[in-house]
Amino acid sequence: MLSLAITLLAAPMAMGAALNARALPQAFASNSDGTYKLSAVAAPVRGSGSPESSSTWKLSINDQASGHKQTINGFGAAVTDATVAAFNALPADKLSSLLIELMTDAGANFKLMRHTIASSDLSADPVYSYDDNGGAVDASLSSFNLGGRGISMALLLARMKALQPALTVLGSLWSPPGWMKLNGVIDGTTANNNLNHTYASQYAQYFVKYLEAYRAHGITIDAITIQNEPLNSQAGMPTLYVFADESGNLIQQNVGPALRSAGLNTAIWAYDHNTDVPSYPETVLSKASQYVNTVAWHCYASNNNWGTLTDFHNKHPGVDQYMTECWTSTTTGWSQAADFTIGPLQNWAKGALAWTLGTDNAQGPHLAGGCTTCRGLVTVDTKAGTYKFQVDYYMMAQFSKFIPKGAIVLDGSGSYTYSGGGGIQSVATLNPDFTPTLVIENTFSNDVYVTLTTSSGETWSGLLFARSVVTWVLPAAP
Ligand SMILES: *[C@@H]1O[C@H](CO)[C@@H](O)[C@H](O)[C@H]1NC(C)=O
Repeated sequence: MLSLAITLLAAPMAMGAALNARALPQAFASNSDGTYKLSAVAAPVRGSGSPESSSTWKLSINDQASGHKQTINGFGAAVTDATVAAFNALPADKLSSLLIELMTDAGANFKLMRHTIASSDLSADPVYSYDDNGGAVDASLSSFNLGGRGISMALLLARMKALQPALTVLGSLWSPPGWMKLNGVIDGTTANNNLNHTYASQYAQYFVKYLEAYRAHGITIDAITIQNEPLNSQAGMPTLYVFADESGNLIQQNVGPALRSAGLNTAIWAYDHNTDVPSYPETVLSKASQYVNTVAWHCYASNNNWGTLTDFHNKHPGVDQYMTECWTSTTTGWSQAADFTIGPLQNWAKGALAWTLGTDNAQGPHLAGGCTTCRGLVTVDTKAGTYKFQVDYYMMAQFSKFIPKGAIVLDGSGSYTYSGGGGIQSVATLNPDFTPTLVIENTFSNDVYVTLTTSSGETWSGLLFARSVVTWVLPAAP
């Protein structure tokens, strides 16, 4: 009885707070040294405010129809075998609370995840596929099975989806079974590291069987890329070299028809590699536009340029784009995740994904030849059974927690970064409830007082701490 009375008393207060939250501006910040972690900070004020002795900066957005750009689908990270192994080392209650923080508005509210189809470099040895068959040809795919690691992956994704029903899941293949390849192995050689087209139909059916098996374990996969980084042929980890026209032909003639005749409406996204070869997805689209209307990009080109996505959009305005992979590491800076999210969002991406969601405390498990410094957004101390959010988690959550699915990115100006590194970058969205969100990154080592003007005639000002990202949630324009 007592607890019921308290509940009844608390309910009207909570509703009042929610209404206030919508009417008043709010600000939340995370910074380089972790003093702020999605912390509520002083909200922006109307007008030009009082910068006092701080440096100042001007931003503007077009919040009217002419400024509307792409629609957001979500943010998240790659669920790798390393992630599954690390998470499953947690006690049950810790894993439950971690997943609630990742997948609901109690925390990051991630709504987009990528996962590895069997081995990637972030898998423990030995390398595997879902149909190894001892290396022997399995033309009927009768030995297909997810194995223990595949089942654990599917079950974790299903738990995530149960917590976040709006979750979109992308699956990406690192290598088909060795017997489908000219070199006969999943990893180990770069010579003849190509598909043997004798097995093109088995290769297509491999995707069908994977999608059906995951669905049987409770997770429907929304989209696939047929090959992670098709131009990256590397020994020591699962890779497959796929030429651009080969990729388009495989989708058009094999994978697309196989999915559809199995009754699967899974989307197929093109490319899944760096911004320096935009001709690759152009070729795939020209050959397989019947099945492909989305392009996936990674961040690793030495001359990486997110402007490539705007160029691509201008040529193909009906094609969706995502930033599907960029790493976070013990060696990347505090702003890495904010950088690889804000740049793509400024250039028509509908979402961004970190590599990887979780690892153990030793940046693994990973293949002996895999990445030794890829650190998850979450790290798990497998001995102690505890987890920790790294700075990269907070940087991703500065977007994912405050920008809902269906938010429309607004055209903006004023973002600039000096060649020395310091700068202010921002991206704004108009959310489905008509509140605008502005994410602002300050890479200067001093505080900066920012003034935002909107094309609908509003002005907002507020302080950004040194080396921080702040998210302003503004009231709906009148
Ligand atoms: C592809 O596989 C077929 C059937 O196993 C085999 O006869 C052929 O030699 C392979 N192609 C190459 C180039 O290795």
